[in-house]
Amino acid sequence: GKGTYPYYMLKEIDEQPSVMRKLVSTYTDQEGKVTVATDIVKAVQAADRIYIIAAGTSLHAGYASKQILEELTNTPVELGLASEWGYGMPLLSEKPLFIFLSQSGETADSRQVLVKVNELGHPSLTVTNVPGSTLSREATYTMLIGAGPEISVASTKAYTGQIATLAFLAKAVGDADQNPKALDFDLVKEISLVAQSIESTLSEKEMISDLVAKLLPEARNAFYIGRKQDYFVSMEASLKLKEISYIQCEGFAAGELKHGTISLIENGTPVIALISNNEEVAAHTRGNVMETVARGASAITIVEEAVAREDDDIVINNVHPYLSAISMVVPTQLIAYYATVQRGLDVDKPRNLAKAVTVE
Ligand code: M6R
Repeated sequence: GKGTYPYYMLKEIDEQPSVMRKLVSTYTDQEGKVTVATDIVKAVQAADRIYIIAAGTSLHAGYASKQILEELTNTPVELGLASEWGYGMPLLSEKPLFIFLSQSGETADSRQVLVKVNELGHPSLTVTNVPGSTLSREATYTMLIGAGPEISVASTKAYTGQIATLAFLAKAVGDADQNPKALDFDLVKEISLVAQSIESTLSEKEMISDLVAKLLPEARNAFYIGRKQDYFVSMEASLKLKEISYIQCEGFAAGELKHGTISLIENGTPVIALISNNEEVAAHTRGNVMETVARGASAITIVEEAVAREDDDIVINNVHPYLSAISMVVPTQLIAYYATVQRGLDVDKPRNLAKAVTVE
């Protein structure tokens, strides 16, 4: 049940630090070394390219995981929108490994791709929250997120759990390959810093709720902007906001705005900028924020401490850049949540949507 929580979504947001810690115990051995099933590690080592297939929030988790997977496993990663790939595969590499990311393990769009992958005889790995789900049974391998049941239609802890699970995979493969980047990366320590960073964001709920009450009460549309990892988080943040609050929202690569979309900015248009710890990127995104403010936008910033300034709105603890999507997304989940509560809408059951999308 949801206990004392008004909605499952808030409970599931709050569970994220413990999901992170549980993943550490699932994917480490008694000596604290990261371990993933040998078969799975070998399957990644044998692949010349990884194709991540998913929909919605799970696809966004795939984007956020691309960098760590590529750098630690030395294997190119391509993302595929499940609903499009069902019509036929693009030109594949010689030794592909398919990773299906799915909270429910039941998404029909992803399954139709898996059926084709199995016909072609390629290996596959399902990363899911539901043991025994269809995508888990039909794929060659499974890794579990172990986030506990996710009831709210808006996915939160599955997103952060998927990124962390793929980080364990990347680290296990990188260690096995003796990749210096992997050997230098203490994932267990970094995940515990992520858990602490999330906890500190969760202690700011009231402030975030007040900020939302100022920024979004009248809004019919809004923008999230960011670059690099923050761009991927912008896409997820915007899906979350529109899915439950019905505010039309776009997640945009900050530098791309000026190529057309900035014409939508008018007086009072809410713009939320995500700025994680990379000085060059931070400076560029801040420049883009100024461009929107100059056209009347009401902008707020969500910034990692190391690059924060006094006038930033939400400041979050630094984490390793490989994992910044996990901690950066949390304030955006809370923004979506409070915007929806403040509109008097049912957070857990947005109109027109089901938890698992089992039709193509
Ligand atoms: O169960 P899956 O992860 O395969 O679901 C994929 C999407 O339908 C899902 O993430 C959807 O986008 C969420 N409702 C977003 O919050």
